[in-house]
Amino acid sequence: MKVVIPAAGLGTRFLPATKSQPKEMLPVWDRPVIQYVIEEAVASGADDILIVTGRGKRALEDHFDLSPDFDEPGKFPEVQRLDELVRRTRIHYVRQREPLGLGDAIRLARSHTGREAFGVLLGDTINVCDPPLLRQLWQRYEARNAPWIAVEEVAEDKVRDYGIVEGEEIAPGEVRCRRLLEKPLPSQTPSRLGITGAYVLTPEIYDALDATHVDAHHELQITDALQRMAETTAVYATRFNGIRYDIGDRFLWLKTNLEFAWRDPACRAKLRPVLEGLTDEQPRSTTGPSDSARARSGAKRPAR
Ligand code: G1P
Repeated sequence: MKVVIPAAGLGTRFLPATKSQPKEMLPVWDRPVIQYVIEEAVASGADDILIVTGRGKRALEDHFDLSPDFDEPGKFPEVQRLDELVRRTRIHYVRQREPLGLGDAIRLARSHTGREAFGVLLGDTINVCDPPLLRQLWQRYEARNAPWIAVEEVAEDKVRDYGIVEGEEIAPGEVRCRRLLEKPLPSQTPSRLGITGAYVLTPEIYDALDATHVDAHHELQITDALQRMAETTAVYATRFNGIRYDIGDRFLWLKTNLEFAWRDPACRAKLRPVLEGLTDEQPRSTTGPSDSARARSGAKRPAR
């Protein structure tokens, strides 16, 4: 299976942390987010991965290079596991030269995926699912030979943050899409089925993207192209059965880190007293420069 991973987004929700480093390289517990995404793709059966990068994203390519600097046997097992992961697939890169949206990023995969169906996973979202989400979508694609989208129920006040799917339930948890709207107002749709960012797409998506206009923000939306497809052919959605971690802003990133650290029994024991020890009182050392930083800068200690 070929998998396309758009990772060109600017990370504006997490500035300044993402000013000069890709949001996909932010660590979650012991590895960068993009590594979880590649692990999920490989576990789903990906033997060929195309990452869509952009300006400032070169660290992504460095991360998936083999690591001669760390190849001393037994010394860096985590790096060796990463190298094994990289050897199990082929990773390619293409650059999106302008931030023209998710649809435009996917369109750049056209010559790479050719006449084959392909999976899409977002570079800043970790899906914890058993079996892996993309494998679940791919099995459904093979059964119906049509695009599949993962969706989940979202709260009413979150509707405007998601692509939303309306349609008829054809089996428990499965919907034939009648209408797809990118980030509507809750009043514009009765549906609360939000697109989570995992797809299996068929090659017809490229013609649909070509025929789709950019939105008011000059971005080409994959949701709008899928809407165009749904007018003439079947497009399906399935409820996502697992946990999805979007790390795109600081709260979501921190929450994801805490949950992943909590799953590690050795860390849990250390983390518990830290969390229990948190109080509403602001520790002085985080409200301003430390005494040593003040001493280095020559500033006077503030009156207490
Ligand atoms: C993108 C898609 C949207 C989807 C979302 C999931 O939006 O355009 O349809 O619901 O991912 O995270 P973004 O979050 O990149 O604005």
